[in-house]
Amino acid sequence: MKIACFSTKPYDEQFLSAASEKFEHEFVFLEHRLDASTVVLAEGCDAVCAFVNDTLDASVLQRVSEVGIGLLAMRCAGVNNVDLDAAAKFGVRVVRVPRYSPYAVAEHTIGLILTLNRKIHKAYNRVRENNFSIDGFLGFDLHGRTFGVIGTGAIGRTLAGIVGGFGCRVLMYDPYPNDEAKKLGEYVDLDRLLAESDLVSLQCPLTPDTYHLIDAERLSKMKRGAMLVNTSRGGLVDTSAAIEGLKSGQLGGFALDVYEEESGVFFEDLSQQVMQDDVLSRLMTFPNVLITSHQAFFTREALETIAETTLQSIDAFSRDEELVNEVVATPS
Ligand code: NAI
Repeated sequence: MKIACFSTKPYDEQFLSAASEKFEHEFVFLEHRLDASTVVLAEGCDAVCAFVNDTLDASVLQRVSEVGIGLLAMRCAGVNNVDLDAAAKFGVRVVRVPRYSPYAVAEHTIGLILTLNRKIHKAYNRVRENNFSIDGFLGFDLHGRTFGVIGTGAIGRTLAGIVGGFGCRVLMYDPYPNDEAKKLGEYVDLDRLLAESDLVSLQCPLTPDTYHLIDAERLSKMKRGAMLVNTSRGGLVDTSAAIEGLKSGQLGGFALDVYEEESGVFFEDLSQQVMQDDVLSRLMTFPNVLITSHQAFFTREALETIAETTLQSIDAFSRDEELVNEVVATPS
């Protein structure tokens, strides 16, 4: 099969090429993001491979189907950017990579928390300028703090285990509690988690139900001065409300690896351009905000699994075998 692979960076090409050696499939690597204006580049291919910030709405999926493509392989876990109803309507089957190193995301979450709390990013720069003062770097012990995990899937459970190791008291919220997580902390309702947690971390998918899960009202229910961490999907947090929370001091810190308007910004080198996103610009001015550019997944182990799982799905499709990682629209 010939696969049009959108939004590819050199690292994608490296890992997908290595994994494809075991298969007889050929990738066409495209740097462009997939949207209505670039979908034409998929013509002549048998499958499309896309990523988190590609646009897979009804018009793009219709075009994908019209050029005779029946498979969309998402090289990520979240499929919030795919119109699954439209995919079904136009006969495009969708596969994803449901599991790839939950450690990658959980460990990056810890990295963000420790960096923001202990100001390691600022210390790095200060020491390089021969300034060995520690004024302004005062942090707090994680030990003994209450840590709220929203979403106890693969990543949430991994994170709960790690923060338990730090000596945190772990509170968890998930509409679908699972037995494995019960060993790691206490399930409570969302209001209680927000009221009692010193740190709140989002590890749930973005769906119509979870869009702006953390909005002005929920921020007001958080413990004053608590830290919010989002390494899941930007749309889970109302960024403007978070900015107001930071300005008033209700929110004591905000660490994020994802941002609701990240498409076209994250993953790109815009260092020679004027930033057009005023919300992101404002967010970057706060001393107690730490932003990384959707890199939580970015470990060797995760990229190997993403490449291998993607190729296995493509191979199964080419042989008309069962697609174990297929995602279908849930009936509303
Ligand atoms: P998972 O499917 O194993 O777990 C998700 C959990 O969220 C499930 O237990 C589900 O019941 C729960 N959930 C659903 N609705 C909820 C709600 N309203 N409130 C609280 N919990 C809810 O998924 P996994 O692998 O743990 O990944 C979680 C999310 O992390 C993904 O959906 C994706 O958006 C994000 N992610 C981010 C990455 C990054 O690089 N920053 C990389 C990989 C995943």
